[in-house]
Amino acid sequence: MPRKPLIAANWKMYKTPAQAQEFVKNFLPLVTNHERDEVVLCPSFISLSVVIAAVTGSGVAVGAQNMHFAEEGAYTGETSPLMLKAIGATHVILGHSERRQYFGETDEIINKKLKTALQQGLVPIVCVGEVLAERESGRTEEVLLRQTRGVLAGIGAAEAAPIVIAYEPVWAIGTGKTATPQIASEAHEVIRGEVKKLLGGGVAENLRILYGGSVKPENASALMSETEIDGALVGGASLDPQSFGKIVKY
Ligand code: 13P
Repeated sequence: MPRKPLIAANWKMYKTPAQAQEFVKNFLPLVTNHERDEVVLCPSFISLSVVIAAVTGSGVAVGAQNMHFAEEGAYTGETSPLMLKAIGATHVILGHSERRQYFGETDEIINKKLKTALQQGLVPIVCVGEVLAERESGRTEEVLLRQTRGVLAGIGAAEAAPIVIAYEPVWAIGTGKTATPQIASEAHEVIRGEVKKLLGGGVAENLRILYGGSVKPENASALMSETEIDGALVGGASLDPQSFGKIVKY
């Protein structure tokens, strides 16, 4: 069975609830009856409920950009997977490079979050990717292998099916420098190859690996035509309904 592509909008720390609602109003008519791809909007925590209400019945799903690994507890300022589920979020981005860079998230923490997301039935979109210095010094493969092993540690094949991995080379995020389809494909092959070793051929074959980093309406179809690329995680170009609509319809 071919893998169903997943196109996700990561709005990062943009849009008030009213702006998020306005986006949905303008976006849904652009993707009516669009079934080829799974479409997910990931607003900030504070806009989740508004967006979830606004997409009801449309087939568009909603995810969070982060969560804590505990189900509940004394963790001031954090949001738990139970809370996300309770309001109807179905997906969660984990280990985004901005979380790694600015908030000290490590593969170990991301691994804990991934385990909780799986236990709670949330679809995790787990991010990996090298920084520029790592690519330029020929260490991309080593970094991707380390991150893939780290985030998947202790997870068994039987529970791994919902996992989505997003390859986001940090040098391509918000820079306008997209990885070429070939560069992205090569990275995806490295990740899929490692998943095959860790979790077996079946899991690797069904695993969706998204590409993220300066995806735009102009480059989406070239990226998506690669068999190794199973979707996109879109930042800047997902903030505008027309632009994200074009990407979804690559
Ligand atoms: P840009 O699409 O703005 O480069 O951001 C990519 C990203 O970080 C998505 O998670």
